[in-house]
Amino acid sequence: MERMRLGGSPLMVSRIALGCMRLSSDPAQAKATVQAALDNGIDFFDHADIYGQGLREEVFSTMWQDAPGLRDRVFLQSKCGIRFAGDTGPEAPARYDFSYEHIVRSVGGSLRRLKTDYLDVLLLHRPDALVEPEEVARAFDELQRKGQVRFFGVSNHTAAQIQLLQTCVDQPLLANQVQLSVVHAQMIDDGILFNRDEDAPTSRSEGTLPFCRMQGITLQAWSPLAGGAVTGKPLANAALRIERAAAVVQELATQKAVSREAIAIAWLLRHPAGIQPIIGTTSPARIAACCEADELTLSREEWYRLFEAGRGGRVP
Ligand SMILES: NC(=O)c1ccc[n+]([C@@H]2O[C@H](COP(=O)([O-])OP(=O)(O)OC[C@H]3O[C@@H](n4cnc5c(N)ncnc54)[C@H](OP(=O)(O)O)[C@@H]3O)[C@@H](O)[C@H]2O)c1
Repeated sequence: MERMRLGGSPLMVSRIALGCMRLSSDPAQAKATVQAALDNGIDFFDHADIYGQGLREEVFSTMWQDAPGLRDRVFLQSKCGIRFAGDTGPEAPARYDFSYEHIVRSVGGSLRRLKTDYLDVLLLHRPDALVEPEEVARAFDELQRKGQVRFFGVSNHTAAQIQLLQTCVDQPLLANQVQLSVVHAQMIDDGILFNRDEDAPTSRSEGTLPFCRMQGITLQAWSPLAGGAVTGKPLANAALRIERAAAVVQELATQKAVSREAIAIAWLLRHPAGIQPIIGTTSPARIAACCEADELTLSREEWYRLFEAGRGGRVP
């Protein structure tokens, strides 16, 4: 598995990562998923404090039992900032919370459940409307000083939201994790649609993709298989563009004698931004199928055929 530098940091990580949101709560099954990832060269694992209400981090830590030294050979990323309705009483709504107290408390919980002394990367999960960059900076400083978090980043943030954090946060923000796949590529499409009358307002992503490229912030792609929508999951009443994208994925897979998963992941890897797909399959066979993408480089023409199908029409 080819390795990539995360943000501008010294972290050299597998360019395909495993997302742990859907890990089984059965330790044997979870272990089979994680082991398949390791066997295919994946050493970067994405968590969040809320996945399975903490159970995913807990089940992941059972990996340490039979594999002494494994912790030092993998990279653990977790996220904080999303809070569930009712967590402090019946009136509490679903909300985001980037307060100093919540960030520090959340990381403490992740470290306890993951049975580790440190996270390699902590991401702020979804932008908090009430964000106070000074609070975030205080939390990051403390977590770094105590050795509990090595590096920091964000998820689902726009360029402006990252810049706002950067007014106070001293640590470089290494990554921005966003939804990105052949059939969910608005961030890429925005750059194509600029100045087109029929699509105004055009800038839904506020230039976040070129901003991240200029700043050396790694874009991590969540739901890179679109939950299987273009790789064989039977879909009832799928939009025409999704059916079309699935057909092109199938055609290229047959032509190249690779899996459909490899085509979907290779489409992300082909983008020069250096996107790190965070695959979420729990199936060992599908993990191996995704990792075939490491050996595959799509041509410009193949990339644009998939782009055209996924966006539902030719480029202007
Ligand atoms: N930052 C955020 O806001 C955010 C949001 C969502 C997710 N994430 C992260 O991104 C990771 C990946 O997300 P994701 O799980 O949505 O990504 P994904 O890789 O696009 O989808 C994986 C899901 O699709 C299913 N699937 C794939 N191919 C299939 C097929 N041919 N037939 C039937 N089912 C198929 C998988 O089932 P099997 O397990 O059976 O293969 C699994 O449930 C998560 O684990 C999490 O770490 C982050």
